[in-house]
Amino acid sequence: MRITVIGTGYLGATHAVCMAELGHQVLGVDVEPDKVAALQAGRVPFYEPGLAELLAKHVASGQLRFTTSYQEAARFGQVHFSCVGTPQQADSHKVDLRHVDAVIESLAPWLEGPALVVGKSTVPVGTAARLAARLAELAPAGSAARLAWNPEFLREGFAVEDSLRPDRLVLGIDRDAPRADQELAEQLLREVYAPLLDARTPLVVTDFATAELVKTAANAFLATKISFINAMAEICEASGADVTQLAASLAHDGRIGGRFLRAGVGFGGGCLPKDIRGFAARAEELGVGEALSFLRDVDAINLRRRERVVDLARELCGGDVAGRRVAVWGAAFKPDSDDIRDSPALDVAMRLHRLGAEVTVFDPKAADNARKLRPELGYALDPVDAARDAEVVLHLTEWQEFRALDPRQVGAVAARPQIVDGRPDRPGAGLDADTWRAAGWTYRALGRP
Ligand code: UDX
Repeated sequence: MRITVIGTGYLGATHAVCMAELGHQVLGVDVEPDKVAALQAGRVPFYEPGLAELLAKHVASGQLRFTTSYQEAARFGQVHFSCVGTPQQADSHKVDLRHVDAVIESLAPWLEGPALVVGKSTVPVGTAARLAARLAELAPAGSAARLAWNPEFLREGFAVEDSLRPDRLVLGIDRDAPRADQELAEQLLREVYAPLLDARTPLVVTDFATAELVKTAANAFLATKISFINAMAEICEASGADVTQLAASLAHDGRIGGRFLRAGVGFGGGCLPKDIRGFAARAEELGVGEALSFLRDVDAINLRRRERVVDLARELCGGDVAGRRVAVWGAAFKPDSDDIRDSPALDVAMRLHRLGAEVTVFDPKAADNARKLRPELGYALDPVDAARDAEVVLHLTEWQEFRALDPRQVGAVAARPQIVDGRPDRPGAGLDADTWRAAGWTYRALGRP
């Protein structure tokens, strides 16, 4: 099939590459010429394991191209995926739908024949219905230009795998459209995803509102699960229990499950924090704000964990971090990513900086992004160097390479052997407390005695 993917950021670039991998002819569209030029040259402008190889392969074969022209996109595609970002508004908790609206406004006037536009972005429930009306209004093809909603669930660091082997596919169909149009939309999407459906990926075909909600509800549930275990970490700290063992024991109950039950400095990134805020704001608009009032606690618990790390650092520095050197291991919001959006690690680093600490950050992939956003922090080229003369080391993003470090080597350069583990993980994974203690370190961890 001939498919366009509009917006070549994180989601769009991955989707375009994976559509080509499924065998389609793909045209990626972006308003930023620099991004288009980079992708056309086979360069991925962010770090995502496995993506660059697939991009290079499909650009070289001509199966995947990029353009800045909506006119070209409209002529080329049978199906147009809208993959633009939906960030949080600068001055509220609501979702900024500017880019999503702009795709319809820019594409629709060129749609002269039948076409299916498919939204993938995470949007407040009700957005698809509004966009469908706008599309029919603007497109010369009128109601032959249809909208569908097909939320994405990909995780950074696993984006290719999540796209090619998703847990489920959700298709939101316009239930106000004539029956034949509904069937056509579903059929087109089934063709797009035929290789995945052949591989028995579960498929849910539903209405717009439910499709939109699957995504927001899933992220709200995941955020709640993390904050639940982080709330338990607070109880553990007050009672002398160990949250890593608690989580491991809870995980044996198949109804609870162990995934997303890792306590620590909490969730960040471009999705979970803004999605729970946007979801709560949307519920308010719908007059059912109380139904999601617990999400404010989920957010608050999450942010409290960051402050807890700051308190521990302060305690280990004798009550005040002003003028003290602090090493921060990690800047990305999670490992295997260079994304620093709403990163707990970088937020903690900035909180300490504002308290007067001299903070040196190390991250294997996200340091360049961090330096651009937070030039006031110091940056080191390796984790040992970051710890030089530090009074306390903070382990805040659980990159694999931190586990392999020799505590004695780090201890030889640090001013004092004190570490706060903000990502304590399961027993047997993460930094090994016993090894660090045996090497003479004071090891403190969130949620552990
Ligand atoms: C998330 C969803 O998982 C994905 O389905 C959705 O499409 C986009 O949002 P992502 O933001 O890439 O994906 O990261 P994810 O792996 O979900 O982690 C989110 C944050 O939660 C990270 O900061 C991570 O460190 C933290 N986390 C995750 C925990 O603190 N504990 C856990 O047990 C799991």
